[in-house]
Amino acid sequence: MLAQAAAALESRGEAELIIGLALQRPRAWLIAHDDARLEDPDVERIDALVRKRAAGIPFAHLSGAREFYGREFRVGPAVLIPRPETEHLVEWALALELPDNARVADVGTGSGCIILTLAAERPGWQCTGTDLSAEALAVAADNRARFKLEGVTLLQGDLLSPLDARTFDLIVSNPPYVAADDPHLEQGDVRFEPDIALTAGADGLALIRALIERSRHLLAPGGWLLIEHGYDQAEAVRELFCKNGYESVESKSDLAGIERVTGGKIRSTPP
Ligand SMILES: C[S@@+](CC[C@H](N)C(=O)[O-])C[C@H]1O[C@@H](n2cnc3c(N)ncnc32)[C@H](O)[C@@H]1O
Repeated sequence: MLAQAAAALESRGEAELIIGLALQRPRAWLIAHDDARLEDPDVERIDALVRKRAAGIPFAHLSGAREFYGREFRVGPAVLIPRPETEHLVEWALALELPDNARVADVGTGSGCIILTLAAERPGWQCTGTDLSAEALAVAADNRARFKLEGVTLLQGDLLSPLDARTFDLIVSNPPYVAADDPHLEQGDVRFEPDIALTAGADGLALIRALIERSRHLLAPGGWLLIEHGYDQAEAVRELFCKNGYESVESKSDLAGIERVTGGKIRSTPP
């Protein structure tokens, strides 16, 4: 079965993951029990999963889960599948010097992976996640309940509008940032992810631009805005931060050395 699945998926690693999922066993178990007998229902389950995966359906949609920053998040077709790059945004947020009861907002929360991780890592922070998509918020609410983080507020609406006149010490966002005609949208997992989670206008910067312009009015003096963006957008995003008067503007790179997250802060004392 492993050889067959590996041939169909053109990857032994993928085949091990799929068979592990079908048998509800970790990969280590498969390696240690390569003489275990498969029953007919096992074979049927493996066949069905291999067919779906070979058709391109993301592994995370087949398993219904994806690990992010050491926690397993429920995911589905209504949300972006959490990416390892986004863990760099979380690391940066956790490294900031913020008050113990910092007010933190995550715009475009999707599965809730960013804001729920921050709330779990910093229990004193007052955390709010927003999203335009009611379906995405339902997934975030499910994850909030699983992690027993009921203190996190989830609000529906366009960008910062659900946050009204509130003030924040930190706003984070991994907004949609892919250009509408980007050919990458025809490849891999993104074909099965919601367009609302991926695309943002002709240059992909439409929502990032709006976030940088509007967050200024919601950030406390010394407050930070951190935004994840595309592999080729760091320079443009830094320019937007500077143009809008943010200080300490810099970008951080992912493990491949690609600048992936850019941030800046509001002046601590008014000029
Ligand atoms: C790239 S996904 C990020 C999801 C999650 N934060 C993560 O990092 O995995 C962007 C999210 O922004 C939401 N979104 C798109 N347009 C929005 C808007 N105008 N206002 C608020 N949320 C929006 C999408 O529904 C989606 O959940």
